Amino acid sequence: MLVVGSVNVDLVVAAPRLPVPGQTVTGGDVARYQGGKGGNQATAAARLGATVAFVGAVGADDLGSEARSALAAEGIDIAGLVETGRPTGVALIVVDPRAENLIAVAPGANGEVHAPHVTAALGRLAPGSRDVVLACREIPPDGVRAALEIGRKAGAITILNPAPADDLGAETLSLADVLTPNETELALLVGGGTADDDPESAARHLLASGASAGPRVTDRGAPARMPAVVVTLGAAGALIVQTGGAAVVVPAPAIHPVDTTGAGDTFNGALAAGLADGLDLADAVRRAVAAAAFSTTRPGARGGMPTRAELEGFLGGT
Ligand code: RIB
Repeated sequence: MLVVGSVNVDLVVAAPRLPVPGQTVTGGDVARYQGGKGGNQATAAARLGATVAFVGAVGADDLGSEARSALAAEGIDIAGLVETGRPTGVALIVVDPRAENLIAVAPGANGEVHAPHVTAALGRLAPGSRDVVLACREIPPDGVRAALEIGRKAGAITILNPAPADDLGAETLSLADVLTPNETELALLVGGGTADDDPESAARHLLASGASAGPRVTDRGAPARMPAVVVTLGAAGALIVQTGGAAVVVPAPAIHPVDTTGAGDTFNGALAAGLADGLDLADAVRRAVAAAAFSTTRPGARGGMPTRAELEGFLGGT
């Protein structure tokens, strides 16, 4: 499978509460973790045993070298991870005792992941019809669109994690077989307002507007029943919405979260890994919800991402 997206180094402060505008809060010592939604999603999939290639950009600096080594150490093909003249992306994160977070990102090199780079890198990687192409934001919209277009042309399953959800045109959305917004992102995609109260209606609205207009059935053994909007609901799990079918809620197992940073990325990486493995959409979502819950039990975006054995054990015990 192929992941096109961002790489950051995360600087994290655990604080007694998240600051409100104009407020300073004092926390513990700063911790440094590998992050960025794309790198996190690639890592989540690789830990679960998927063969993963990553396309993105870092700076020609120490943080960039660290980020490259961390992805390579997970067994990820980083031939498509280039160095640019801008610094490696950095995320400033505050985590509170409820495991909630607040994130500000300085994208740096991620801002250079434009269509020509994505097209050249995916041209070399040559996705096929049994592949999954997963794209996230935190890179420019033309890079996202190129990734989905190439995936669609190759007959691969295309997944778009619209995080953040701004600057995504209807045409880009229509290139995704599966869209995976959280409730806030879903509200933005449908023009604000409704998603928190009624995510199913908002997702149906998105599907009716032509977003996620992918093929209904893939050519692999298990039909994935695309197109779909899969809304991540945090501790409540996920909601699968497809045209012409009843919505399905997949509840999350009860856990005691330490840090929810990267839970959405774990969900997306695990979902893509499941679909690449030939699971149908509902089964892939079930595993992804469990992987995301497990990931919140350790600090750092990637710290709690489970291996396949850890996930099997967790699923066996829930
Ligand atoms: O989704 C979590 C990620 O968002 C963090 O790792 C941070 O880098 C930001 O990109």
